[in-house]
Amino acid sequence: MKINHRFSIIFPIIAVILAIPMAVWAGGGGGGQFYSAGYYALVIETGLVIGAIFLGWLIKEKMGIHIPKLIQFPFLWAMCYVALRVILQPPIPFSLLAMYMGVCTIAILLYCSLTVDSWKDFSHPIAVMLREDHAKAKLSRYATFLIVPGLIAAQTYNQMLPSFGEPIELRTVHPAPPASINVHKKLVTLQTAENPFRIGDDGEYLKVGDESKYFGQNAWVDDAPKFLQQVKEGGIVFFGTAGCFFCHGDNLDGKGPFSFAFNPIPANFADPGTISQLQETFVFWRVAKGGPDLSREAFPWASAMPPWEKHLVTNEIWKVIIFEYWHTGFFPRTWE
Ligand code: HEC
Repeated sequence: MKINHRFSIIFPIIAVILAIPMAVWAGGGGGGQFYSAGYYALVIETGLVIGAIFLGWLIKEKMGIHIPKLIQFPFLWAMCYVALRVILQPPIPFSLLAMYMGVCTIAILLYCSLTVDSWKDFSHPIAVMLREDHAKAKLSRYATFLIVPGLIAAQTYNQMLPSFGEPIELRTVHPAPPASINVHKKLVTLQTAENPFRIGDDGEYLKVGDESKYFGQNAWVDDAPKFLQQVKEGGIVFFGTAGCFFCHGDNLDGKGPFSFAFNPIPANFADPGTISQLQETFVFWRVAKGGPDLSREAFPWASAMPPWEKHLVTNEIWKVIIFEYWHTGFFPRTWE
């Protein structure tokens, strides 16, 4: 049975269609940062797939070397594993990896059993190993039936072995915020408050999302637009007045020089799991009140995040928040 060659063009088209949502997702929710880790990973992955297809074609069609399906199988499987485990960004949890690898295994088996011949190619060596009576088959039979149970036994033993590591602390990273907070004798209602420094060129309130036009621009020039002037002042708080960077890092990635001393570690604002998931007023609450105001859910309250209302004025807190979003290219969450 031969597959019609004219139809093989459909596969790359399907691959491209599947790659589009992945590319959008790899952008990381930020304001179209084409240099994010996700894009690099996507480019490497695509290159790997095209390279593998080319290599397969070269070996089979040009060099005339036949690689048995049973040998192709572990090679393809390992390639899928490397792509999902090492190259894919951001990293995925083990449960998801196991699921994806299950799908990959089925796909590779489908490929191996595409035609009667290819299935024979795949299964024949296994049948020989299981059935035949000559010395070689016997040897590989004994080896297989010793090695496979041995590996399973070793894995089981390792899993059952008691570990002496610290117990895991389950902690709600983003607990429910209070309805309102009192900062410098002013009541701030978190549902309705707005960042007073989120202002556009006309001095009006800048809708969330519209600030993307300022992303990547220099905030430190003299004739910077109003919004970028707030960004700059926020930057001065971050690196100067408050020194947030000692914990949250120069690149806002939570890797400041002090960060390694703390558990929980300082938040990584460059990760899509922190400020981009939060409303601006939630961040305001966290910066103003710090670790000490964490609610019951956030047990064990071991956060080193200082309550900045004791060291900064309200305006400085709002400005440093503007700076954090601008620097990372994320938008605060809104309810619209
Ligand atoms: C002494 C180290 C330290 C300094 C300095 C510090 N932080 Fe933090 N910060 C932390 C730690 C640790 C956490 C994570 C634990 C938590 O959520 O309370 C955190 C969490 C946060 C969060 C919550 C993020 C989230 O996803 O919930 C925000 C926002 C934040 N910091 C902003 C700031 C700002 C702004 C400054 C400077 C004005 C600052 N931090 C200075 C240690 C620090």
